[in-house]
Amino acid sequence: MRFINSSLVLLVSASVLLSTGHAFTPVSRSGVRSGKSSLCMSAALIVQNKGGGHGELGFQLAKTLTDHPKISSITILQDDACKDSSEPFCSYATDIPNVKIVKAPLSSDDSMTADAMKELLGGASFDYVWDNASKKPEGAGKAICDCAKEWGVKLYTYVSSAGMYQNPTQFPMPETTPIKDSAGQAKQDQYAVDLGLPLVSFRPQYIYGPKSNKHDYIDWYFDRLVRDLPLPIPADGTQKVSLTNAEDVASLLASVLNDEQAAVSQRFFNCGTDQLHTYTDVAMMCAEAAGKDPASVNIELYDADLFGKATFPFRMTDFYVAPDMAKQTLGWTGPKHSLQGDLTDYYQSYVARGGPTKQMSLVKDWEIVFGSTSQFAVRSVYDQYDPLVIDTSEVNQ
Ligand SMILES: *[C@@H]1O[C@H](CO)[C@@H](O)[C@H](O)[C@H]1NC(C)=O
Repeated sequence: MRFINSSLVLLVSASVLLSTGHAFTPVSRSGVRSGKSSLCMSAALIVQNKGGGHGELGFQLAKTLTDHPKISSITILQDDACKDSSEPFCSYATDIPNVKIVKAPLSSDDSMTADAMKELLGGASFDYVWDNASKKPEGAGKAICDCAKEWGVKLYTYVSSAGMYQNPTQFPMPETTPIKDSAGQAKQDQYAVDLGLPLVSFRPQYIYGPKSNKHDYIDWYFDRLVRDLPLPIPADGTQKVSLTNAEDVASLLASVLNDEQAAVSQRFFNCGTDQLHTYTDVAMMCAEAAGKDPASVNIELYDADLFGKATFPFRMTDFYVAPDMAKQTLGWTGPKHSLQGDLTDYYQSYVARGGPTKQMSLVKDWEIVFGSTSQFAVRSVYDQYDPLVIDTSEVNQ
């Protein structure tokens, strides 16, 4: 950081991201479909947070369960703080018409009780619950467990997070990696166990997918590639990441139905693809998808201790899981998608969302790229996108 001192004045344009969406049509239909054998009338309830689980876990799970022989009806209990005009919520009516959608103030009403929840669900009871909403065993989080207990569910499958792990020493991180006991999700797990629920708890990592409303991880790469800018990646860039298509996450979540007993006895499962990629690999795959010459990709590996995480979307050090336990125990057959195969479509959606032309703040990149070199140049590759106004009068070179 030789030349960056307090005399530099950086005026940076704010990033403006505009999201587009379609109008939402509320649905309220019977969750029961015809044509299923009455021998297996199992009702599934998916409890979905306002983000939809990176935009679409509940949606994809509902799609996956639609054809499952064990499941005869599907209901999504949707946090009503979701943005109806965004994906995947705006596709509920068209894409999963047989799924009953019930909206409720799951995150905003901390006083929700099991009785209130049962009433919202019209007194129905369920055999399988997938919970991708509860952040802690209070309010709706406690209520859903209490309801599940009363219904005598066959499985209560909770979608937790690999973010619960701390101080990992082994990679991929096994399910036995120490967790943050204070995390709300750990408390939710514990409450379910205390109640004696047949808990199965998944720990997913980064998720992408066609109807996702969370794009910042992969967009980070394209944002720089399409502008022919350097990609500041911390350390040596060989850290690995697990980026999983939401459809594959959904099939993994549904695989608890393959062997319910084994699922409950193992209880905790890492959740993601078996195809891990290094941070640098992701850059090269994105470049290919964007039609960029690999030789033109400028990866700027930087000192993570000096500059920190900056805008980089993943952790500075290794932090990844693999789905070996789920494959062994649940017979999950693995992902149907590959990141490489999906990136072309992803890139098209990136362009459609206005990625290449949106306003961006690049000051952190500029600091790293220019701070990492001993060359001082006022004009930079960033000027055309994010003009920096720099007072150099007091800079000692
Ligand atoms: C729901 O799914 C997402 C994955 O998109 C996960 O990160 C999150 O922790 C999940 N669980 C809850 C309880 O919201």
